[in-house]
Amino acid sequence: MKLLGRFGLGFLVIFAVSLIIFNIWGYATLGTITPIVDAERNLDANKVVMVFGATGSAGDGLLKAAMEDPTVESLHVVTRRSSDRIDAGVASGKINLIMQQDFTDYAALAAELAEVNTVLWGLGTSSLNVDDATYTLIHVDFPIAFIKAWLTARQHAPMAFHFVTGVGTDPEGDDHWAREKGRTEREMAALAVGTGLRTFSYRSWYIRPTTERGNALTHLAELLLTPGGLVIPSIELGRAMLEISSRTSELPNGTLIDNLDSIRYAELYHRAMNN
Ligand SMILES: NC(=O)c1ccc[n+]([C@@H]2O[C@H](COP(=O)([O-])OP(=O)(O)OC[C@H]3O[C@@H](n4cnc5c(N)ncnc54)[C@H](OP(=O)(O)O)[C@@H]3O)[C@@H](O)[C@H]2O)c1
Repeated sequence: MKLLGRFGLGFLVIFAVSLIIFNIWGYATLGTITPIVDAERNLDANKVVMVFGATGSAGDGLLKAAMEDPTVESLHVVTRRSSDRIDAGVASGKINLIMQQDFTDYAALAAELAEVNTVLWGLGTSSLNVDDATYTLIHVDFPIAFIKAWLTARQHAPMAFHFVTGVGTDPEGDDHWAREKGRTEREMAALAVGTGLRTFSYRSWYIRPTTERGNALTHLAELLLTPGGLVIPSIELGRAMLEISSRTSELPNGTLIDNLDSIRYAELYHRAMNN
């Protein structure tokens, strides 16, 4: 019993110390971009939005942000299954649902892609869930096939692709997952050069699920990670993406956005909406 108590106490101390170190690290290193406070915003930049991964924890918030944005006139969701939020959006006429099974082939979507301005990509999974080949298929082949199809259908601005990669993504990294996501970050930016498309990668820390999907634990995690800027609610990440899309002459193609950067752009989204 005594041993168990000591073990529990030891675990708590290690957890608390790690948390403090992570938060200090986040506070000291994150936030590499200084956004223009009152930047010019193109109100047509998010006219037609397409969301991927909308059934997932991050994607549900990206979808919610797009559904609530008054400048979004048309919203496509590309998915292999539905969710309560998607069902509600379809019922209200806000969402055009596109059921898709093969995420490497978008030939059937050429007409929609010719109109799309902004893509919010929350499709992905943990490297713990799949083998390396499947990980590459989902995180490299899927988005690259999509970008090629989009650029075949359209090349004129405003166009922005927002890709959730995650902290630790590194094209030269030791881990397969980090290298593959880093490879996609680079390849999609290279494909966009000379076109009207800008690509952005979000090296987020913890993306807190929407309140509808969350629970006491997710909110506790948010509380613990807030001091270091290590957490963003998924809906706020979506708003940061929409804000970055709308600032058509601010960030260049290929910009990497860290967690604190996205928090700042989400704040500026609220500022613009309240003006
Ligand atoms: N959550 C976080 O805190 C966090 C932080 C940093 C980065 N990220 C990154 O964000 C991405 C999404 O994470 P998440 O937490 O939202 O994951 P999630 O809750 O598991 O959602 C994954 C989404 O991707 C779709 N998806 C996965 N595999 C697919 C496949 N083979 N074909 C078609 N659709 C597929 C899922 O669709 P179905 O519902 O049809 O399966 C779902 O919409 C991942 O790349 C993750 O590494 C997440």
